[in-house]
Amino acid sequence: MKVATHTLRCTECATVISKDEVSSNFRCPLCNGLYEVVYPWTNAAAGPDSRLPNASALRWLWQERRSSTMPVDQSGVWRFRDLLPIVDDLEKVVTLREGNTPLYDLPRCAKVAGIDWLLAKHQGMNPTGSFKDTGMTAALSVAAQRGFEWVACASTGNTSAAMAAYAARAGLRSIVFIPEGKIAWGKLSQSMDYGALTIQLKTDFDGCVKILGELVKQFPIYLLNSVNPYRLEGQKTPAFELVEQMEWQVPEHIIVPGGNLANSSALAKGFAEMHELGLIPRVPKISIIQAEGANPLYRSVQENGGKELTPVTANTRATAIRIGNPASWRKAINALQTTGGWCEQVTEQEIALAKAEIGAEGVGCEPASAVTLGGLKKLVAQGKITAEERVVLILTGHTLKDSAYTIDYHRNELFSGAEKEQLNHAEQSQHAALRKPPVVLDADPALVLRALESHMNQPQPA
Ligand code: F0G
Repeated sequence: MKVATHTLRCTECATVISKDEVSSNFRCPLCNGLYEVVYPWTNAAAGPDSRLPNASALRWLWQERRSSTMPVDQSGVWRFRDLLPIVDDLEKVVTLREGNTPLYDLPRCAKVAGIDWLLAKHQGMNPTGSFKDTGMTAALSVAAQRGFEWVACASTGNTSAAMAAYAARAGLRSIVFIPEGKIAWGKLSQSMDYGALTIQLKTDFDGCVKILGELVKQFPIYLLNSVNPYRLEGQKTPAFELVEQMEWQVPEHIIVPGGNLANSSALAKGFAEMHELGLIPRVPKISIIQAEGANPLYRSVQENGGKELTPVTANTRATAIRIGNPASWRKAINALQTTGGWCEQVTEQEIALAKAEIGAEGVGCEPASAVTLGGLKKLVAQGKITAEERVVLILTGHTLKDSAYTIDYHRNELFSGAEKEQLNHAEQSQHAALRKPPVVLDADPALVLRALESHMNQPQPA
């Protein structure tokens, strides 16, 4: 089945090119800007393209596909294919039935943040455990249909896990560049499990990006970092799914972690398109939260209102977002400005606390995802988010991605003595109440019973 086509527009100089003209590094040859995918109906001055079904027909169709047994219908990305017609042959789409992720309420986290109601869209519930799957099904399908044999990415671990899995499904060969010693074991194991050529470079993520940039100029390798605009077409679909799950209500705020800074703009694109097509009456404010040790966007917003970005040497235990020179920072600034959101930063201790709080709700996430709750607390304290507003945190990765972090936290081995001393008494008690270190006992029933009794006598936290 053939579906409608699209063009690529430079987000800096607005030059429009055909899909076949794009260079291997996905940069505009005129201004080095990044592209976005545009459709005949994007920004249509005269209203939505008449060939598209109207808003209520789309809503009906998307819901209807949920009961279909076709792989593309079972995918929470391709279910919305009417708004991402980027592949020629739908039957050859590479899918692991990504998307369709749960929307949880987090009543205890809402309370600690000081708001009435809080939701989390858990993108860690995707097939490889992170939000990257929604983008990878899209871009990998494009790569496969354009006849590439090799695909590659530089990654802090999740992109590489997703790429390796989807490449394996498609029968393509994949090369992963990761910073040696700076990604979580769960993620490293995935790229090996899915059969990628895994190259650990003795540098950081930003160094990996540089090396790969040189390679794609010389070899016919399809680049699957988030500079690839097709990734973002998949990553915009959680916006559709989210409002569908909220019965077409639009939350006031979306909060996302910021690393290489593509996901914020992908979601902003999804909301903007729904708005243009009359599916929703307004867009939510999208706020981006960075780790204090990897905060180039935060600095840029503070220092010059987002006009320029000075790369930093990144350092955070939230290794997924340990990025100092983010490729898509201009797109992220645009997402902040067009939606009216904010950029905040959170400390290592704030990340750890937020992660434990999300875990204690039975939801869990990886450290990078927990910055969202840490950031929410700050935005509420600053009066930017009010108690009655509806907030959705985008939890980007599964808790099992980085179990070493979780174990270290609960054993009280995550932070150095000096770092622990920086906490005041109240903060120390917050951590102490959440920490659940494993109890090691001899296999003696009387001993076990005594230990249980002492635990059962402790009050359950509110
Ligand atoms: N959360 C997680 C769990 C991530 O893996 C990433 C990025 C982000 C948030 C930030 O998203 O880059 O769009 O701002 N991980 C990339 C990777 C860089 O290689 O897996 P972003």
